[in-house]
Amino acid sequence: MLTELLKDLPVARDERVLVGHETSDDAGVFLLSEHIALVQTVDFLTPIVNNPYDFGRIAAANALSDIYAMGAIPLTAMNIVCFPTKKLDLLYLREILRGGLEKIHEAGAFLIGGHSVEDDEIKYGLSVTGIASPQRIFTNAGARQGDAIVITKPLGTGILATALKGKLISDADMEEAVEWMATLNKTASEVAKNFSVHGCTDVTGFGLLGHLLEMAIASKVVINLQASSIPIFPKAYEFASMGIIPAGSYTNKNFCSDYLEVDPSIDPVLLDILADTQTSGGLLISLPTSEAYKLVEELRGRGLSVASIIGQVVEKGKGKIIVTA
Ligand code: CO
Ligand code: CO
Ligand code: CO
Repeated sequence: MLTELLKDLPVARDERVLVGHETSDDAGVFLLSEHIALVQTVDFLTPIVNNPYDFGRIAAANALSDIYAMGAIPLTAMNIVCFPTKKLDLLYLREILRGGLEKIHEAGAFLIGGHSVEDDEIKYGLSVTGIASPQRIFTNAGARQGDAIVITKPLGTGILATALKGKLISDADMEEAVEWMATLNKTASEVAKNFSVHGCTDVTGFGLLGHLLEMAIASKVVINLQASSIPIFPKAYEFASMGIIPAGSYTNKNFCSDYLEVDPSIDPVLLDILADTQTSGGLLISLPTSEAYKLVEELRGRGLSVASIIGQVVEKGKGKIIVTA
């Protein structure tokens, strides 16, 4: 949305801005020297789980993810807080911050500040600054014909969060999804750096279809997605088939529809999950098919048990996704 609103405004350009606001990439990149690029991102959200500590972990992992999606290393983080101090106990906020801090430390980064605002609705997240080698930045524009697409986390967190809001799922049944959302994309990013990554992004608000389409458009390619090989939360399938789907996921599906070719045999519920808006989703990595099996094996060996090859870059084109069974 911001890109659209900024379109006619005079945003200054400079050759040191390697990745700016106009591409739909994960983070901004500024060239500091021949060897170091600054990578910056900001993200915050409203609670999607009941436990404040878990929410803090998830929101921080979600904010750090854009740094990892660029192949960068996070160095510093700042808290962003909106909180109703008159209505809610500050201990609740302390738990959010405790969860966030745990993830910042796990990332090897340092908390160096923050800002809070009185607000009726809780919001929490981070601004994160990292560094990368300018020659080795992962953007979403490099996917090539002959690549395979790898995903590192299961899909369906938007559906599950909607079910939780409607009190249709217990906190206990939500636990698996909570742990995945709180999982940093650090390992995925580190492992991927040992391979010939052509394109990378993380799966968040626009869902798998939206983010993969961004990659297909930026890379000018056609991507074939194999629906049956995509890892999903079993409970998410259950709720999606009952019609428990967040509004954002419908928006995603409609947005992508002009660029989608869906095999008629595809289960429509599955398609809803592919469009489901994700919080702190996994990385989507495009790399030569010959290396993809080894990448998946290493990711699984490092605890990312659902890592899978879910598609192929089949040809050059204007940016399109073909979904087959
Ligand atoms: Co992102
Ligand atoms: Co983001
Ligand atoms: Co990127």
